[in-house]
Amino acid sequence: MITDKNIVLTGASSGIGLEVLKILAKGGGNRVLAVSRRAEALLSTFADNVIPMNADVGSKEGVDAIFERAAEVFGGEKIDIFYANAGFPYYEEFNYENWDRVKRMFDVNTLSPIYTYAKYIHHLDGRKGVLAITVSAIGQMAMPGYAIYSASKFGLQGFQQAIRLEKPENLQITTLYPVATDTNFFRVANPVPFEKPFPVQQPDVVAKKMVAGIESGKKFVSPNPLFAVSKVLMGVCPPVRTVYWSLEKAKLGRFKQKLIDMGINSREVAELGLDLAKTLLNR
Ligand SMILES: NC(=O)c1ccc[n+]([C@@H]2O[C@H](COP(=O)([O-])OP(=O)(O)OC[C@H]3O[C@@H](n4cnc5c(N)ncnc54)[C@H](OP(=O)(O)O)[C@@H]3O)[C@@H](O)[C@H]2O)c1
Repeated sequence: MITDKNIVLTGASSGIGLEVLKILAKGGGNRVLAVSRRAEALLSTFADNVIPMNADVGSKEGVDAIFERAAEVFGGEKIDIFYANAGFPYYEEFNYENWDRVKRMFDVNTLSPIYTYAKYIHHLDGRKGVLAITVSAIGQMAMPGYAIYSASKFGLQGFQQAIRLEKPENLQITTLYPVATDTNFFRVANPVPFEKPFPVQQPDVVAKKMVAGIESGKKFVSPNPLFAVSKVLMGVCPPVRTVYWSLEKAKLGRFKQKLIDMGINSREVAELGLDLAKTLLNR
């Protein structure tokens, strides 16, 4: 059980982050600054040791504001654990030229944890601390339908790998590699329902393993044993991966056909945004 810690948790209002928050909130003496864009509305029922904060982590200003608020709520004490968990996917065929749509994903999923790392080591200034980061199994193996998401998480994976080689001794880094987890993630990815990748895990299971990993000082947490085994298997026998990918490609094919049947032009949706997709869905 993690206790007596000052903790910042992003993406705290839903899914994996919300389950992590439930565990951390129970640890005696913990104070958690629980961040998402809608945290204040969504997390008001927690006890006083959970301080909700609305912030967009996909901007420098958002991350700076989190560190400023943490200084206030922790009375100038250090942040013992910073868990950069917020992130989001697109599920789509990548076939559009929308610079801002792609950049937004890198801002939230990749740049934000990178900037947080730099701010956090300066904040610690030699004191002990833990930076926890949610990467993804997709940060180690790309998936059809997730081209931009895969790229953003591979970027984060590369960063965490490199930074371990130069990080200060006082910093523990624990990275999480969930497989498909049954959260809002898939509703955010595309408003048109689609088939999730195999296998699927529940967020409370993932959260328990991640919190245990942070507490025991683990470098890497792979909450699904099947993924850990299949990574080895696919490494020694690449055709296994080809078969897996072909099953996932078939799912994307069925999704593309579904959009055609619904009269939705996926490129137009990506160009004009998800609001248009929602409008089309409600026609
Ligand atoms: N679910 C999966 O299959 C899966 C698999 C591998 C990795 N992951 C990763 O796990 C992490 C958590 O995802 P989840 O599955 O728990 O999804 P989720 O249920 O959609 O939760 C995402 C959380 O992030 C917050 N968030 C999103 N964009 C934000 C922003 N710009 N600024 C601040 N907060 C933001 C959301 O709250 P607001 O909307 O209120 O901001 C929400 O609290 C992400 O990094 C995701 O990439 C998920």
